[in-house]
Amino acid sequence: MDEAARIVDADEVAEGETLLFTLRDDEGEPAEAFCTRLSDGAIVAYRNYCQHWTDVRLDKGDGARVTNGEVWCQRHGATFQLDTGYCDFGPCEGSVMESVDVVVADGGVFLDDDGYTFDHLGEHEGEGDEEGGSDGGGRIDFTGS
Ligand code: FES
Repeated sequence: MDEAARIVDADEVAEGETLLFTLRDDEGEPAEAFCTRLSDGAIVAYRNYCQHWTDVRLDKGDGARVTNGEVWCQRHGATFQLDTGYCDFGPCEGSVMESVDVVVADGGVFLDDDGYTFDHLGEHEGEGDEEGGSDGGGRIDFTGS
């Protein structure tokens, strides 16, 4: 495998947790994704945004909320099945998270997606969302928070 595509050691990816990484799309634009381990041991990855409001991150840098094989959006409570990406509850019910192809080899998790190149483990510096990031792109929603 191409070492430049190695995201992390496979044994660092745990069930019930998400691990954030940054990649670049084919135009060089940075984007975030997270990987996690399923109950059957498989490792999957998805882009790190909610299907309801795409500027809302699921993992805000310290791990997304994961229960019973589902990742939660903490903004309005949508839940997405981690094995399929399917949203089975919430305002974007019926939508599907955007998957990122990864493979496990040589004890590591490697990005294996023609649409992206791996950039670094961890969040994208300067990534801001509705919490009022430095990009000025904050959003006030109906909860007033
Ligand atoms: S932004 Fe995720 S459920 Fe609304």
